[in-house]
Amino acid sequence: MEKYSLSKWGFDHTSKICVLTGAGISADSGVKTFRDAGGLWEGHHIEDVATPEGFYKDPTLVIDFYNQRRKQLVEVEPNPAHEALARLEKKLGEDKCLIVTQNVDDLHERGGSRNIIHMHGELRKLRCMDDDSHIIEFSESQNQDTHCPKCSAKMRPHIVWFGEIPFEMDKIEKSISDCTHFVFIGTSSLVYPAAGYKNMAKHCGAKVLNINLSVDRADLDTHYYIEGRAKVAVSEWVDELLDYL
Ligand code: OAD
Repeated sequence: MEKYSLSKWGFDHTSKICVLTGAGISADSGVKTFRDAGGLWEGHHIEDVATPEGFYKDPTLVIDFYNQRRKQLVEVEPNPAHEALARLEKKLGEDKCLIVTQNVDDLHERGGSRNIIHMHGELRKLRCMDDDSHIIEFSESQNQDTHCPKCSAKMRPHIVWFGEIPFEMDKIEKSISDCTHFVFIGTSSLVYPAAGYKNMAKHCGAKVLNINLSVDRADLDTHYYIEGRAKVAVSEWVDELLDYL
């Protein structure tokens, strides 16, 4: 792996880019990352609040946990990294720029991006427990009276918990196999399937870039790296690319 440079990146107006984001991109907006908190997520063990077993054991605790996370969204704003990715999409067009995010916040949307897949779900949605296709926009606090507006069944947070299958994997894998450039930003690459996407992209012929606060330079799946805080590193990377295009 070597340090990123625009000349080696080989990007032009025909290029197609897929960007995978993780908790590090939202860290600069004040949203806590998962693994930097000593195995606890906002003071809770992950297995208590982010597994189906945790939900069945204590639904009130889990619902309240996601109510708090949803409430926190009102207090945070997109940062220059989210905004830079939106500028990139605007320049390239939605068909040539996809964001796949592991984050459940809505900071990419509020930063101006449109072509986004939330592979681990979204805080601002609830899903019917009887029919997976009943998904509603939801910005309030969930309680015992929150029922599916279509069939009156109970609802759950629209979040992928450990042991569950992430959303839209076929579409993600197709985009990765079609892209010429793959960038992963602010993710520890510890949780699969997302952790395997850089390897998939490289094998499909894409150039691969890692932007992170701290980079593992021995990573054989990645061609280039930029080390730094997302809000600075991503905006500088995008602005240089846009000047060139
Ligand atoms: P992690 O918390 O595992 O990793 C955060 C990454 O962001 C680390 O690699 C940090 O070095 C990096 N980082 C921290 N601050 C940064 C900054 N300001 N700028 C750039 N990088 C920074 O988060 P994820 O990799 O997103 O899954 O975690 C993946 C999944 O594990 C999550 O989506 C969640 C979690 O458990 C589910 O809930 C299913």
